[in-house]
Amino acid sequence: MITIALSKGRIFEETVPLLAAAGIRVLDDPETSRKLILDTNQPDVRVLVVRATDVPTYVQFGGADMGITGKDTLLEHGGDWGGGSAGLFQPLDLQIAKCRISVAVRADFDYAYAVRQGARLRVATKYVAIAREFFASKGVHVDLIKLYGSMELAPLVGLADAIVDLVSTGNTLRANNLIEVERIMDISSRLIVNQAALKLKREPIRSIIDAFGAVVAAPGQTGA
Ligand code: PRP
Repeated sequence: MITIALSKGRIFEETVPLLAAAGIRVLDDPETSRKLILDTNQPDVRVLVVRATDVPTYVQFGGADMGITGKDTLLEHGGDWGGGSAGLFQPLDLQIAKCRISVAVRADFDYAYAVRQGARLRVATKYVAIAREFFASKGVHVDLIKLYGSMELAPLVGLADAIVDLVSTGNTLRANNLIEVERIMDISSRLIVNQAALKLKREPIRSIIDAFGAVVAAPGQTGA
């Protein structure tokens, strides 16, 4: 049995064509089904529906053999996600669910001036590790305020001077009169594989990795 951990929403939707390339079709729609373990057309492949932030945990500890997760989530998950010593092998950048993680402020807040002055900034974010690392590398002092969603509200009600959040179209920022002042990094989703599972179930896991890899490498498939 091969178990694949996925989160609902954009990652699931953009994973469907990759699974199809590996001959895998999920039999239930996670948006309408309440089931958390979804069968596929292949009796020995199943999909777990988990929270996006939990995908690395399931894969790291063997609750799933493999999963798909954003680079943002991997960085926040911490550990040696690049080196693999946390038990996570990261064979592919799938080039899906692309966005960026940025600093944004109210349009009337002079971020550049505050940084030049050495002001201590209050920054609200779900991405505490990424924000801490970024501002430390710039030598900017920050008080980080951990939020779990709707970060855009924080500067509007005086909870924070700035936010660190994902930006895709920029529509959410615009709708809330916020402007993007720094782009921290580009984000896309990665395939992650439990290293022990890769050893024990090498053939079926390799064939899925190869099928995904062929889609990613195909011309015109990487700009999703
Ligand atoms: C993300 C992010 C922004 C929005 C950006 O939220 O937190 O709010 O998308 O997208 P845009 O630039 O296209 O407007 P998401 O909808 O993933 O939900 P979340 O608040 O749970 O993170």
